[in-house]
This record gives sequence, C-alpha cells and structure tokens, in this order.
Amino acid sequence: MALTVKPLSERFGAEISGVDISQPLDEATKQEIRDLQNRWGVTVWRDTGLDDASHVAFSRLFGHVELSPTHGKAPRFSEPELFDATNIDRDGSIIDNPNRRLINAGNRLWHIDSSYMDVRSKEAALLCHEAPPISAPTWFADARSAYDDLPQAMKDRIGGLTARHCYFYSRMKAGYPTNEEELDAMPHAHQPVVLDHRWSGRKTLYLGNHARDIVGMSREQGRALIEELNDWITQDKYLISVEYQAGDMSIWDNLAVMHRAGEYDDTLYRRDMRRTTIREPGVEAADDHFTTMFASSFRRAEA
Ligand code: OGA
Ligand code: MN
Repeated sequence: MALTVKPLSERFGAEISGVDISQPLDEATKQEIRDLQNRWGVTVWRDTGLDDASHVAFSRLFGHVELSPTHGKAPRFSEPELFDATNIDRDGSIIDNPNRRLINAGNRLWHIDSSYMDVRSKEAALLCHEAPPISAPTWFADARSAYDDLPQAMKDRIGGLTARHCYFYSRMKAGYPTNEEELDAMPHAHQPVVLDHRWSGRKTLYLGNHARDIVGMSREQGRALIEELNDWITQDKYLISVEYQAGDMSIWDNLAVMHRAGEYDDTLYRRDMRRTTIREPGVEAADDHFTTMFASSFRRAEA
C-alpha cells in the first residue's frame, strides 16, 4: 500500500496518511510503517478512528507493548497497556491535587520515556481522546541530528560515558517535593549518553531531564554536561510541535528523539491523552516491571 508522507521538517517528523490503521494491516504495510518510523523519528496520524482496543492492537506492530504501572489500583482504562497522560481524575474531573499536578508538570520538561528503567522503551504512541480548545501540543527534538552536528571534540568527550537516570529527579526539577537524599534511595537506570540507533545506522543523544548525573564525574560536572547537551538538542532548529484534535495520534521513537508536553492551563481545560509504550526489541524483562519500579521508589507516583 502506498502511504503518503508529508515531512514536518527537513530532517525529522512526518505526517502519514493513506491507510486506515484502525483495521488489521497486511505485513507489507506494517513493515512500511516501521520503516517510516525509523526514518522520521516522529510520525503523526490524523483522525485515526482508533479506540482503546484498536490503539493497543495497532501498537503491537512495533513489538511488545508494555503494561502500564498500576500504583496498586485497578487499571484506569479498558486496556491495561494504556499509560495515563491525561489531566483528568478517575471521577472525570480535572485533577487539582497539587502533587499530582506536579507529577504531570514533569512531562513538560524535555525527556525520554522510560529512560529511568533498565529496559528502554522504543516507540510511544500517544492518542488524543479530548483536546483543549487552545494550543496544547507535544514538542519533539531531533536527538539524532543534534548528535550528528556536535563538534568532533564533544563526540570524542562523551563517546563512552554513562548517565544515571531517575524518574523522581525530573519530578524534583518540576517542583515535586523531594530532595537529593530521597532520590539516592530510589531506583536508577544506567544508560549510555550516546546510543546506537541500529534501525537507521545513526547515533542519538540519550539524555533529557531524568538524567541525574554521569558515572565517574562529580555531580556538578556531570550535571553541567547533561544541561549543556540537553540545551544543544533542544535548539529551535531541531524542534517540531504537534497539535491534536480528538482522534489524532503521534508516535515517537524514544531512541531517536526527546519530547515534552507543551504548556497550557491544565486547571481549566481537559486534555485526555493515552499512550502505549513499546519495549526495545530483543530485550527480556518481567511483564510488569513499571509497577515494580514505582513500588520500590521511596515515594510513589501519585496516579
Ligand atoms: C507522554 C508525554 C506529552 C504530551 O505521554 O509520555 O510525554 O504532550 N506526553 O502529553
Ligand atoms: Mn513522555
């Protein structure tokens, strides 16, 4: 099937049309979609007609779809694979608990989903169920091109480095009440700063605001380097933003881009976004490792 590809910038991001993804797809079309995703890093799909079940079913073309952490509660949606990226409570009202709003505010910092997990996530597919009547986009940054454009001296400097990532570090930066000592007792993942994106033969910078420090460097030096590189990746020339109407979906490759939710008044407007998360291929992990990670955090995500 010939898919139509409309690039959103010169080097990354593309809107795809020409196929009804709410229906089962043949193998050739699935492969075409995987190839486009690996080429463009972000794909955008308009008016998909997807519901919870077909959202999860479609996501399986990329690989193993992770279970969302339960935080000890019954799953919120009909499919246990759906991560909650809404600002809406179980009773349907807009969330007003300050700590829960700060947990969501962490998503407005540049990040890579699951970089705080030992098992990385590759694609994430974020489907809009209800959009505010004002601008409330997702922003994306092209971390592969940002790597390509680094001065050689910086590439040499960061080549073998490892960063430690922690979920609550980004939440602390967003204002959530915790501190460095509490963070020390929480789970951290070790991740290479420069990651091979083997599906495109390119390299990417794997950082964002979960990255807390660099192994073998003082905290100050490591943080300065992380901030310098995060600033580099998020220069205007590497950015695109995607706006949504109900039914629209963006899919990003966490091993190729960073992302963040755009600012909007989340006390005034409902924004119902649900996300599937696809495990990096070829990696084994327990079925429900997100729940395990959050259960062993000193503080729980208040979700
Ligand atoms: C996410 C996320 C951004 C948004 O769901 O992982 O970062 O725009 N969402 O809601
Ligand atoms: Mn995210």
